[in-house]
Amino acid sequence: MTEFQSALDSVLGTLEQIRTGGGRLPRASRVAIEALSRPPAPTAELVTASPPADRPLTKADRLAPVRARVLVCTRCPHLAASRTQTVFGIGNPDAEVMFIGEAPGADEDRQGEPFVGKAGQLLTKIIKAMGFNREEVYIANVLKCRPDTPGAASGNRPPSLAEMQTCLPYLAEQIEIVQPKVLVALGATAVDGLLGTRGPMRDLRGKWHSYQETPLMITYHPSYLLRNQTPTEKRKVWEDMLLVLERIEHPISEKQRRYFL
Ligand code: URA
Repeated sequence: MTEFQSALDSVLGTLEQIRTGGGRLPRASRVAIEALSRPPAPTAELVTASPPADRPLTKADRLAPVRARVLVCTRCPHLAASRTQTVFGIGNPDAEVMFIGEAPGADEDRQGEPFVGKAGQLLTKIIKAMGFNREEVYIANVLKCRPDTPGAASGNRPPSLAEMQTCLPYLAEQIEIVQPKVLVALGATAVDGLLGTRGPMRDLRGKWHSYQETPLMITYHPSYLLRNQTPTEKRKVWEDMLLVLERIEHPISEKQRRYFL
């Protein structure tokens, strides 16, 4: 299916929901309305966006229609109305390691890319310390919209259970397509989303779990490390990353083994 067809299906589905939903008025963010007001892209662009029929679909091809559905998603009308844009995921669709966070914050909402704020910069450092570029791994969140904070000028809130349940099918599709060798859940919300488990992070982290047969490492969210910048806490996350590197049989130098000791 082309991206256009998939986006059209999504719009039609939403209109049908509005029609059968007893007259609830549609809500759209300012950015979405501005985007809709712009002249449509030439049809040729949409046609060339779909892969040629004479080669097998790549993972990037398969992610594209999921991204198109997320782009116009209004399953949580309050988030669709408050977001600047959706934040799908970024990185190598063929990645061996996939990091899962909670939800976009203000910076991510503005830039449309996961983990670009302060916590994101720390995650990028961790990825580099592991011996990868950010572009070599895949990064996504449980929620694709920034959780709204009505009445508050700033601040974040964790996603609600209903929001997570609504959004999780998109993440499940991303994981199913990327099929990383290892998943890394960053923090309690990612654990809750992937495993439906809540518990102290100190008990969950540092051991192997499994999400639909993909090995899953649980570690602290980078924002926890920003609040607890002691070598002991940094070392805990680093030990979790060493386990990830061992699992994917990535070379580890002596220097890397000794970080934060
Ligand atoms: N925290 C997250 O969990 N995800 C982001 O994208 C940014 C911050």
